[in-house]
Amino acid sequence: MNLIFLGAPGAGKGTQAEFVREKTGIPAISTGNMLREAVRNKTSAGLAAKEYMDRGDLVPDEVVVGILKDRIGEDDAGNGFILDGFPRNVRQAEILEEMGVDIDLVIEIHVPDEKICARMSGRRVCEKCGSSYHTEYKPAKIEGKCDLCGGDAVQRDDDKPETVLSRLKTYHEKTAPLKDFYAGKGKLKTVEGQELVDDTKRLTFEAIGC
Ligand code: AP5
Repeated sequence: MNLIFLGAPGAGKGTQAEFVREKTGIPAISTGNMLREAVRNKTSAGLAAKEYMDRGDLVPDEVVVGILKDRIGEDDAGNGFILDGFPRNVRQAEILEEMGVDIDLVIEIHVPDEKICARMSGRRVCEKCGSSYHTEYKPAKIEGKCDLCGGDAVQRDDDKPETVLSRLKTYHEKTAPLKDFYAGKGKLKTVEGQELVDDTKRLTFEAIGC
């Protein structure tokens, strides 16, 4: 099964993709996490991506597509994958089709913009493994430390309020048109993001049938 999670920054795509990975064993692939790792490692893709990420813009398609192709070519993705944060514009969706990737279902996690900024301010992400926490909704057992690997859980550079607003603008201009793209193919299901993470999880599992 090949799934896509779509939604505004901070809507909960990564959180839900991780729940589905735990339940089904299908690998979750986050282009955002891969790009942040590339930035940390100062690879050529990371150096090309950083300035776009810092201002809340999309990284050029050729940079992201290169990273994605490598990842979905790995053995664990042979029987399907969950894409979290890809595609991000209609051109990227067309590239997926040109690659021969057949998408079974696109889940949009919908959260109104007003709620997004509050969520982002509490998010903490492990610098080492990318696991995500929230100071209020999903606190780490030891504040500032990752439950899974003990790495430092810190605020992402692009979670500052001004960058979040820019990411939201980019989402509405470039990514939201994907809803019509996939709805037209009969592949879109929308899940309303709930106050409690577990309530969204239940609705997401229902939508996928897992
Ligand atoms: P990326 O990392 O994909 O960021 P994003 O889309 O902005 O999404 P987020 O990771 O911020 O949010 P999320 O929806 O996964 O929410 P989460 O589950 O963490 O991309 C970063 C940047 O990389 C982009 O700006 C771009 O520059 C670049 N990029 C990436 N992919 C690209 C591509 N394909 N093309 C071009 N550029 C690309 O949840 C958020 C917080 O809320 C968490 O703390 C969580 O615990 C909490 N939370 C979750 N659910 C709930 C709930 N129900 N109630 C309360 N809190 C909740």
